[in-house]
Amino acid sequence: MSDILLYILLLLLLIIVLVIFVVSIVAIYFFISSCFMRYPPPIPSSGRLKDKVLEDICAYLQDKEGLTFMDLGSGWGTLLLPLAKRFPQHRFIGVERAFTPYAASVLRAHNLPNLHFEHGDIFKTDIKRCDVIFCFLMQKLMDGLTPRLKENLRSGAYVYSCRFTCPNWPPERTVSLGTPYETFYVYRQE
Ligand SMILES: C[S@@+](CC[C@H](N)C(=O)[O-])C[C@H]1O[C@@H](n2cnc3c(N)ncnc32)[C@H](O)[C@@H]1O
Repeated sequence: MSDILLYILLLLLLIIVLVIFVVSIVAIYFFISSCFMRYPPPIPSSGRLKDKVLEDICAYLQDKEGLTFMDLGSGWGTLLLPLAKRFPQHRFIGVERAFTPYAASVLRAHNLPNLHFEHGDIFKTDIKRCDVIFCFLMQKLMDGLTPRLKENLRSGAYVYSCRFTCPNWPPERTVSLGTPYETFYVYRQE
């Protein structure tokens, strides 16, 4: 009996060590990626800013039919899932280069026929098909992406960018909750 107890304790200890190991690896990954700042980590939009931008997007989508909405750098699909559930009349596409969040998004979207995820690069995907684009990236990425958006988007298309601006493109609206971290910009293609 005491042997069994010892085995159980050892097993528990092993599980705890494994969990600590995995959490440390994830923390180190986020730390390194944020130090080098080449790519934003797959952190979902959250909190007050996400609520506010979702409210704004929903108000726009509400009375429209058959739009194509794309999240460039869709992470874990956190933004698209509630939108696809609420608006079955629109098509939602997420583009994500990191495999793990992409795969998790595909699993989460399995019962939503109007939601698709593509494993790929936001600089290569076809954005001409989009009526609304959403970005929560980094300033450096927005600097590179903006000329592509301006060149390829159809007239009347909208771009929502959380926190970061599209350079040399005056926003139609700026919505701020008080700090630059809690601000989003809405651009309209001429
Ligand atoms: C801050 S997260 C935003 C996630 C999601 N849009 C949201 O609001 O919840 C940015 C995502 O962009 C992805 N990303 C960055 N550069 C990319 C690229 N060139 N192609 C595709 N995805 C990219 C990152 O992997 C990350 O998951």
